[in-house]
Amino acid sequence: MSKQMSHLDNIPSTPGKFKMDKSPYIHNRLRWHSSLAKLTFWSFMFLGLILIFFFRSPSSNPLPQDPSRRSLRTYNWGGPAWEKRVRSSARIRSRNGISVLVTGAAGFVGTHVSAALKRRGDGVLGLDNFNDYYDPSLKRARQALLERSGVFIVEGDINDSALLRKLFEVVAFTHVMHLAAQAGVRYAMENPGSYVHSNIAGFVNLLEVCKSANPQPAIVWASSSSVYGLNTKVPFSERDRTDQPASLYAATKKAGEEIAHTYNHIYGLSLTGLRFFTVYGPWGRPDMAYFFFTRDILKGKSISIFEAANHGTVARDFTYIDDIVKGCLAALDTAEKSTGSGGKKKGPAQLRLFNLGNTSPVPVSDLVSILERLLKVNAKRNIMKLPRNGDVQFTHANISLAQRELGYKPSTDLQTGLKKFVRWYLSYYSGGKKAAG
Ligand SMILES: NC(=O)c1ccc[n+]([C@@H]2O[C@H](COP(=O)([O-])OP(=O)(O)OC[C@H]3O[C@@H](n4cnc5c(N)ncnc54)[C@H](O)[C@@H]3O)[C@@H](O)[C@H]2O)c1
Repeated sequence: MSKQMSHLDNIPSTPGKFKMDKSPYIHNRLRWHSSLAKLTFWSFMFLGLILIFFFRSPSSNPLPQDPSRRSLRTYNWGGPAWEKRVRSSARIRSRNGISVLVTGAAGFVGTHVSAALKRRGDGVLGLDNFNDYYDPSLKRARQALLERSGVFIVEGDINDSALLRKLFEVVAFTHVMHLAAQAGVRYAMENPGSYVHSNIAGFVNLLEVCKSANPQPAIVWASSSSVYGLNTKVPFSERDRTDQPASLYAATKKAGEEIAHTYNHIYGLSLTGLRFFTVYGPWGRPDMAYFFFTRDILKGKSISIFEAANHGTVARDFTYIDDIVKGCLAALDTAEKSTGSGGKKKGPAQLRLFNLGNTSPVPVSDLVSILERLLKVNAKRNIMKLPRNGDVQFTHANISLAQRELGYKPSTDLQTGLKKFVRWYLSYYSGGKKAAG
């Protein structure tokens, strides 16, 4: 005890404080008590600080509130049974077939492209993080559809390098069809981080893994007509300026085009960007006007139809999903091999960019009239000024380059395409089993 005391006595007290003229015994006891109290006090302070730091630190929160982080959650993947499913889904079943990793496979375009590839005997493996930007049950229903035709969708994020590397270890993909992205123009004002996460960081991560894969795959990926932004020259040609984006979504897609250039230039990756123009059709996206107009017209709710300054018409070059799928497959089929290996470029590689539109813009008010006829319900129209939240007044694709190089020839007009969409919509949401939106 005395040894312990003398040891504690050696802990220096704060100089200049608590100087009392006491007997050596009392003096020693007091010093011991005061040092112990101080030690306890500072230990508690230290512990308290650690706890405050721990609970306030964003990375310690298991359920992050920031929606841009929601897809960072961990997914279950790996193991022999999982690898077997991956291999089987990606197995080529036709002569001259290709094996394709389709990112965003549970999405609108991804589902249609995956199904079309599988139908012709190509190997297809899907990847999707099933985020809740729109009703995830629609993504699950698309997944079930693909499952029935033998396409497995791995649940994971394109930002997960370990997962991507594993997929390339299990399958030597010849092609990547990259469709995973944060889509939608208006949501960018609500959750800008999700656009950076998926459209920039995720794209770079995917390209990093592709560049190191052996053999390197050829990559076809979705850009967007939104890169034309405030461009007023019509129809939009691939040679037109694209440096005036009107939304963060457009800016991230434009950034993707520049990033693609870099990976082509440095690593010899074969890259083809496709600028889609307002894609619509069965299994479509609930955040798009044709989809929620249908829902709201059926519910008897009023719909907002935008007009530009001086009663200017807002129009879109609506493109039917089957035409887009044909363009995607043609891009995959004409893609040359990447030239790099071991992460090093061995020669110049293909770099392409195409508009995939319908080259026939339709005013949004005409879209509503077609829907009214198909649904046999009059819409409650609420004409409003086009807000400055990223939407542009019109889009119109010049598709001559895609026509020449891909044999791309859209063949579905809006009336025909919407008829197919409405038929699907009514059967999918029939009987009040599923409530749209
Ligand atoms: N539909 C259109 O009109 C249109 C127009 C222009 C461009 N595009 C582009 O085409 C592509 C497909 O669009 P869509 O309409 O099918 O959209 P979608 O939202 O239906 O599909 C995208 C899919 O990607 C998944 N995803 C998003 N971020 C991911 C991530 N980080 N990791 C893994 N999966 C992720 C989503 O869960 C979703 O299922 C997108 O790149 C989009 O930007 C679409």
